[in-house]
Amino acid sequence: MSRKILVTSALPYANGDLHIGHLLEYIQTDIWVRYQRLMGNQCQWVWADDAHGTPIMLKAQQEGITPEELIKRVKASHEKDIAGFLLSPDNFHTTHSEENREMSELVYKKLDSAGLIVRKTIKQLYDAKENMFLPDRYVKGVCPNCGTADQYGDNCESCSATYDATELKDPISQISGTAPELRDSEQHFFALSEFSDMLKQWTAGPAVQDEVGNKLREWLDSGLQNWDISRNAPYFGFEIPNAPGKYFYVWLDAPIGYIGSHKHLAKRTGEDYEDTWKSDSDVELYHFIGKDIINFHCLFWPAMLQGAGYRKPTGVFCHGFLMLDDAKMSKSRGTFVSAATWLEHLEPEYLRYYFACKLNSSVTDLNLNLDDFVTRVNADLVGKVVNIASRCAGFITKQFDGMLSTEYPAALIDDYDNLVSAKSIICEHYEQREFGKAMREIMLLAEHANTYINDAEPWVKIKEEANRDEVQAICTVGLNYFRIIMTYLSPVVPQLAQKTEQFLNTELTMAALESPLVNHKIEKFKPLMTRIETSQVEKLMAATEKQNASIANKAVPANAASFDAIKPEIDISDFEKIDLRVAIIVNAQPVEGADKLIELTLDIGLETRTVFAGIKAAYEPADLVGRQTIMVANLKPRKMRFGLSSGMVLAAGPGGKDLFILSPDDGAYAGMRAK
Ligand code: 2FM
Ligand code: ZN
Repeated sequence: MSRKILVTSALPYANGDLHIGHLLEYIQTDIWVRYQRLMGNQCQWVWADDAHGTPIMLKAQQEGITPEELIKRVKASHEKDIAGFLLSPDNFHTTHSEENREMSELVYKKLDSAGLIVRKTIKQLYDAKENMFLPDRYVKGVCPNCGTADQYGDNCESCSATYDATELKDPISQISGTAPELRDSEQHFFALSEFSDMLKQWTAGPAVQDEVGNKLREWLDSGLQNWDISRNAPYFGFEIPNAPGKYFYVWLDAPIGYIGSHKHLAKRTGEDYEDTWKSDSDVELYHFIGKDIINFHCLFWPAMLQGAGYRKPTGVFCHGFLMLDDAKMSKSRGTFVSAATWLEHLEPEYLRYYFACKLNSSVTDLNLNLDDFVTRVNADLVGKVVNIASRCAGFITKQFDGMLSTEYPAALIDDYDNLVSAKSIICEHYEQREFGKAMREIMLLAEHANTYINDAEPWVKIKEEANRDEVQAICTVGLNYFRIIMTYLSPVVPQLAQKTEQFLNTELTMAALESPLVNHKIEKFKPLMTRIETSQVEKLMAATEKQNASIANKAVPANAASFDAIKPEIDISDFEKIDLRVAIIVNAQPVEGADKLIELTLDIGLETRTVFAGIKAAYEPADLVGRQTIMVANLKPRKMRFGLSSGMVLAAGPGGKDLFILSPDDGAYAGMRAK
C-alpha cells in the first residue's frame, strides 16, 4: 500500500536571493520527494516564503516600497530559482496569505482557550524617535557582563553571555541612533514550559536524529521558558485577534505557514488537508531544516501543534551547513554564490548530483570543493553514465534502424536480475537520506556496465557481418544497463531522466524494470549531457565576486553599525591619546567555552599582547597567524572570563562572518606605528 507523506523545507525569508547554501536543503528535499514519488508513494511537498518580521519591514522602508511590494518581487525571484534548479514542490506559497492568517489565528485561539497563552507586562526598550519597541538585534550597548561596547541586545560577542536587551548598559537604537527608553508592554507568551515532559519524550524518540536529540536534551535539562509570541506595532505580520497593536512574532506564523501552504494547495486539489493535521492522522509529516533552527522545529513547533490539538511531526530531518572550498561562504570574500548566478554559468544537475554525492543523514557540514566538483561530475555523470548510452546508441540507430534485440541474451538474465535487485539497497539509502551511499552503489553499476561494453568490443565485432546479431545484443544489454541506472538516478537528475525517456522511448519507472527492454524501437541519440569546463567554474566565481562586491557596497549605508549615534566631538589631542599600532598576529587560537572569540597573541615590536577578539565567525584561527592587524595598544586591560585582554583589534565590515581586521599580508608594516 502506498504511503501518504507530507514534506516541507524551511521557508526562505522574503528579503533576499536564494543562494547555494539554501539549495543544499532544497535539493536534499527534492531528491527525497522525487524518490518517494518514484516508489509510488503519495508524497506532497508544501513550501512558502517566510514573509514577515522586522528585517523585511525595514528593508522595504529602505527601498522606499511597501513590504507587500518587496515580498512579491522576492517571491517571483525565488520561484524562478526553484524552477531553474528543477525543484518540484506541489505548492510554493507565502506566509503573508489569507490561508496563513486564518491558520495562525486558529492555532492561537486554540492555544488561548486551552489556557496556554499567558499575558504578562514586561519592560522593553522603546525608540521614542521612531515610535517603536526595539527587537533585540536592533539595539546595541555595553555588555552587562564584561563591559565590552557595541554588543547586540541578546548576547555578547566578546564573553558569550546571554541577557535581556533591557540589561544592556548605554543602549543605542540601531534604527534611529538615539538612546531608547524603558516602557511597559503587555506581551503574549506561549506556555512552552508546560510541554517539558512531552518534549523530553518526543526528542528521545525516532522523530529526531540522535545528535539533535542530544543538543535538545541540554536545552530541556536547563529548563524551558515561556515563549514571547507577540511583537508590538509597527511590525509586518498578522495582528493578534483582540489585541490591537500586537502582532504575531514571525516565528509563530512561519511554521504555521506549512499548514497555510497545504491549505492553499488543497483549494486547488480538493483534498481534505485537515485530515493530515489531525492528532490521529495516518499521513507521515517530515520537515527538512538546517541545524540553526532546531529549537523552533523540535521544541516550539511540536509543543504548539500538540497544544492546539494537532499531530506532531513524524520526523525532523536536520542537515549541516554548506562550506565552499572548506570555508564559510562570505559576501565580503566574494564567495557567496547565488542560485541565479549559478544558473547563468552551470547546469542545475551538476550541483544536484554533487550534493547527492555529499549528502547523508547527519548534521555535519558539507563541503563543495570546486575542483572535486568538476572531476566528480565529469567522471561519473558524463564519463560513466551518459557514456554507456553514447557507446551503444549509434550502432542500434545506424545498423538496426533503432531496434533493440528481440530477446535479452539468456546468459545475461541473471546479471540483469542482479542489477534490478540492487534496487533494494539503493532505495534503503535514499529512504534514509544516505544519498552519497546511493550514488556510490549506482556508480558501481555504471562501472560494471562500462566494463561489460569494453570487454564485448562492439566496435571491433561490427566489422564482421557474422557478428551483427551479437553487436545488437551487446548494445541492447548496454542500453538496458543505462535504463536501470537512469531509473535509479532519476530523483537526482530529473532532466537527464526525462531526456533518457525520450531517447529510450519508454518511461523510467521501478515497476518497468522488472522486464528488460527488448524488441523495442529507440529514438536517435542526442548528446544528453556535456562535460563541465573548468573555465565555467572560473567564470561563475568571477561573476560571484563582482556581484558580492556590488552588494557589499550597497550594503554599507544599510549596515546597522552605521546607524550608531555619533559620539561627542573630540579634538586632535584626544585622538592622539589613542595609541594605534600595527601588530603581527603571532598566535591565534579558539577559546574554550566561547563560540565567538579568538585568543590573539599580538607582536607590536616592543612587546607581545594577548587580546580576545570576537571574530571567530569571520576567521579560522590558523588563517590569522603571520598576518597583520591594527590594535588599540593603550586600552586599559580588561579582565574577562577567559583571561586578561590587553588591547583591542580594529575591524570593518557588517559583522558576523563578514569582518575584516587585516592589512594585506606583505609584511611591510611589521612592528611600525600606524600614525
Ligand atoms: O531561518 C529561516 O530562514 C526561516 N525563514 C525559516 C523558517 S522555517 C519555518 F518554520 F517556517
Ligand atoms: Zn560580554
